[in-house]
Amino acid sequence: MGISFTWLGHSAFEMTIDGHLVAFDPFLSNNPTAAVKPEALIPEIIFLSHAHDDHLGDTVAIAKRAKSLVVANFEICTWMGNHGVKDHHAQNPGGGYDHGFVHAKLTMAHHSSSFPDGAYGGEPTGFLLTPKETRKRIYFAGDTALFLDMQLIGEEGIELAFLPIGDNYTMGPTDSLRAIRMIKPKFVVPMHYNTWDDINQDVDDWARRVRSETEAEPIVLQPGGSYTLQ
Ligand code: NI
Ligand code: MN
Repeated sequence: MGISFTWLGHSAFEMTIDGHLVAFDPFLSNNPTAAVKPEALIPEIIFLSHAHDDHLGDTVAIAKRAKSLVVANFEICTWMGNHGVKDHHAQNPGGGYDHGFVHAKLTMAHHSSSFPDGAYGGEPTGFLLTPKETRKRIYFAGDTALFLDMQLIGEEGIELAFLPIGDNYTMGPTDSLRAIRMIKPKFVVPMHYNTWDDINQDVDDWARRVRSETEAEPIVLQPGGSYTLQ
């Protein structure tokens, strides 16, 4: 048992939590860096941070085929129901719920959230996951700016954090270092960069700075690359 994950490109990840498959923000079909086709995923749970299409992506098709549970904010879950997704569980920032093998709490995120058709997507969120068995806490930030309340997230004791570093739409590399110093994760994984020109970043330079300016260990993957927590 334990935690392993694969970067699928952009903010899309597949993760195994104590033997259970989950996915985050499965944007694959229109993702120029996607490592797999959406048909390859069979997640039990899809954690969806907000409604923008570079996160919503293939959620509906995957959830219908794989009978996945979509965990997201209230407005997204209502929209899922209206688009034929049967299994969805609505939460909102601050709210935690026990999903069996994993407890999930939604966190705030400073960003926006609308569907591709312009419909309101509710508040953007991140996820704080506590695996029932392994107990190593995971923070998936979603799309967000730096915010001071990340200190509160850090107080929960974070093993593994996923943070955007692309700049332009979210925090960039320098603000992500300030975030890491507040969240204090043991390991940190960059996301939401090098998908398009406007979010290109030198990830090796970012990793050097993480090592020299924070206590965290950076985990830099190529799309399709995997890592297992020891
Ligand atoms: Ni977004
Ligand atoms: Mn985004």
